[in-house]
Formats: sequence, C-alpha cells, structure tokens
Amino acid sequence: MNKLPTSIIIFGASGDLTQRKLIPSFFNLFRKRKSPKNFQLIGFGGTAFSDEEFQAHLRKGLDKYASYTFTEEEWGLFAPRLHYQQGSYKEQKDFETLAKTIATLEKGNANRLYYMSIPPSLFPVILSNLDATNQMKEDDNWRRVVVEKPFGTDHATAVDLNQQMHRVLNENQIYRIDHYLGKETVQNILFTRFANTIFEPLWNRNYIDSVQITVAEPDGVGHRAGYYDTVGALRDMVQNHLLQLVTLVAMEPPANFNADALRNEKVKVLSAIQPLTGDSVSQNTVRAQYDGYLDESGVRDNSSTPTYAALRLFINNWRWQGVPFYLRTGKRMAGKHTRIIIGFKEPPMTMFPMPIGQRMTSNMLVLYLQPNEGVHLRFEAKVPDTVAETRSVDMEFRYDEFFGPTAIPAAYDRLLLDALQGDAALFTRADEVEMAWSLIDPIQEIWETHQTPPLAGYKPGSWGPDEAIYLLARDGRKWMHGESQQMLDD
Ligand code: BG6
Repeated sequence: MNKLPTSIIIFGASGDLTQRKLIPSFFNLFRKRKSPKNFQLIGFGGTAFSDEEFQAHLRKGLDKYASYTFTEEEWGLFAPRLHYQQGSYKEQKDFETLAKTIATLEKGNANRLYYMSIPPSLFPVILSNLDATNQMKEDDNWRRVVVEKPFGTDHATAVDLNQQMHRVLNENQIYRIDHYLGKETVQNILFTRFANTIFEPLWNRNYIDSVQITVAEPDGVGHRAGYYDTVGALRDMVQNHLLQLVTLVAMEPPANFNADALRNEKVKVLSAIQPLTGDSVSQNTVRAQYDGYLDESGVRDNSSTPTYAALRLFINNWRWQGVPFYLRTGKRMAGKHTRIIIGFKEPPMTMFPMPIGQRMTSNMLVLYLQPNEGVHLRFEAKVPDTVAETRSVDMEFRYDEFFGPTAIPAAYDRLLLDALQGDAALFTRADEVEMAWSLIDPIQEIWETHQTPPLAGYKPGSWGPDEAIYLLARDGRKWMHGESQQMLDD
C-alpha cells in the first residue's frame, strides 16, 4: 500500500446511511488508528450544509447510532477532517467544483475512495461526471469505488450497470457491498469450516441431511415502504444476503484467501444451484405478505409484494447432490434471528434399546449469526441413571462470553477498512452478482406473471406462513427456530 494521503468522497452524504453506518464506522476506524494516517472525508449531496453543519449533523448521528463510547478529544481530532459540498449528481460543473475542493484539501498526489451511497440509477451519471472531470485516472495512486446495494433489480439491469461501470473502471477498482459479508459471524463460517479439521470431513452429502438458513426480522418495512414495495423479500434479501450465505456454507476450500480465489469458489456454487423455473417454482418456493402490510404508508393499493420468501434449493455437484438447502427470510417475524443450521443424518442404525417409535435425534451444528452470536453443536448423551435413554445436549461457543460483550465490530468497519486497503475478498464480483440475479429472475417472473404459488399471508410476530411449514413437512422435516427445540431457545 502506498503512503499517499487518502480522500474519501461520499455521494449521498446527507442521507441516512452516511449518518447511521458510514460515519460511525469511519470514526471507529479512526479511533482505533486503523484509518489512513492522513485522510479527509468530503461529503457530496443535495442538501445545503456548511462544513460545520455537516459535522454537527454527523455528530448527532454518532450520539444516536455509535455502538461504542468515544471522547470529545477523539471527536475533536476527527471533525475537522469532515468537509461538505452541495451539488447535483447530474451537473458536470458541480463535479468541476468538487475536483477543485478535493485538490485544495489534498495539496498534492493522493488516493481516492468514492463511496456511492445513492440509488444505483445514479451510479452511471456520477461515474461519467467523475471521468469527464478527470477524477478517475490512476497514476501512482489509486481510485476505488464502493457501491451500495441494490446492484440492479434483475439480471439485465445488473449486466447493464456492470457494463457502464466497466467503461470507466477496471473490475479491481469496484467494491460492491453486501454488508452480510462484513459481519464477523459470517466471516467465521469459513473459519469454522477451514480452520478446523473436525467439520470438513463431514461437510458433504454423506453426512449432512439438510441445511436451513433463516434471516428473520421483527420489524416491518417502516419508512422504506415506498422502496421496499417495488422489490420485495426475494430481491431485497435472497438475491444478495441469503445466496451469499449459501455460497459460504457450500463452497469448496479456495486455494488461498485472496479475493479472486475466494470469489471463484463462490461463483462455482452459484452456477451449480439447480435453477428454479416453470413448475418447480410453485413446488419449491413460498411467497407471503404479513397481515397489515397493505395499510403501511407508501405501499401500493392491492400490492402483492412478498415480505416473506422461502426457497428449497439443490446444488448439483459431488458434494451436495440431493441435500436440500432451505432458505427463508421475512419482515415482521417473531424475532431477530439469523441462523444457519447444518442438520446431520441420523445414525444408520441404533443398537440401544429405544421405546417403540422413537428415533435418534440428529446432530446439528448451529451457526448463530445474530443475535447471541456463536456456534452450537447439538449431540446426544445418555441420561444418567437410565439404561438407554438419550437426551440432546448442547456444546456452545458464544462470542460475548469468550471475546467479551463488545468484541464484534459493525460490518461496515471491516468493509470500509478492506476497501481502503484494497482487499476485495468481502465484496461481490461482477459475475457473482449477475449469476445470483439469473437464479432469482425466473422465480420473480413466475411469481409476478403467473401469481403462483399464491401469495400466502402470515401474522405479524409469527414464524411465517403455514405454506412454509408444508414446504419442509413434505420432505419429513421442520424449521428450527427455538420454539420447540430446547437447544435452540434464545
Ligand atoms: C438490508 C435490507 O440489505 O438488510 C433490509 O435491504 C434488511 O431490508 C437488512 O432489513 C437486514 O440487515 P441486518 O444486518 O439487520 O440483518
């Protein structure tokens, strides 16, 4: 990494994400002395702010959203590095002014990280204005662009967006955010698998019966209803976060830990997923909307946008053939609950005398991604003072107990640091995003044009629609979420 000063330029600087996530993370990196020594941050946005007003606005955000405590001295050192310029994304002359502002602050050669915290429809015009005002040229410095999701709304728009970005940038300058990849517990999936020898020999169709991935949220769509109603659960959560989790659970060990080796393996998983098309969509998916969604302000009359989606997927390769991956996500569910459950097969036979009709309970490895972050292994033990009674017991690792209650940083801390350091391993590559959309498009299309499977309903505060229960019951399985399973209780 070169030692030049670094400018961080945020487009959409007056918006919610900047105040809630980006600045708390940049500031945290600064406090921990992880940010570049010599840097300045320039916000660009539609709202009129002086530098001082911008700083005061961000300070308010820190008081509200920072998950750590900080001192006035730390803030006093950070605040003067924050600058602001009002402008329109579509006006080249505003980019000329921006170029001058940045150059004055940089006082010479510098690296630049441009952060697109704005709707994707604006990426191309911003990039072409940056290009036209000579702000993207790399010399012995670097230029990188971080883009927020959603990256397109389907395969065609994602391809188009990639092409427009590639006109100005090389792929290695683009950092597409999927904030799930910045989560400590999500990164730990690969460490659980590949930093140990005890799991990987079992991590295949010979020993694994099924995999469940649940991302449940208690909140409704709230103030994002206008946007959410145009996308729905499949595009908002499954195309990105859930499919990313599938790739991490299912991929082959990469040759090394560098960005391309890792992403090559993820792309292989996506390309081995059996696409759901035609009739298989109604047999393998559930879409549902919570009761009361239509009354939320910003939701279209009679909207059929699903706030819940469940999928049954198969991965056609040697490791996973025949092992179902059950995915579900929803708003207004019973709780915040993001977990991956690796369900192992039952023992092939049991020599223990068991009551008639009773079967051995299968082992499970449960990755608690959030909350109560940790890893639990459920296995069977003999109940003391019985002849052959068994009970499921739980061996657990909890981050808060082992590493301390505040050890887990915000996902953005890691992602911003990696972008500044030029490590793209936790960002999605062009082909990866396009491949994910190509799995989602046919489902979305059948849902919309054929309205099949029918849109189910579910009660707010529940675990989703009955149809999702049947999706697993047909296979003789059930969702695990802490209601009936002792070890899964929070
Ligand atoms: C975002 C979705 O990408 O992820 C939101 O757009 C969702 O709808 C959020 O609420 C969930 O993120 P987390 O980190 O709270 O699980």
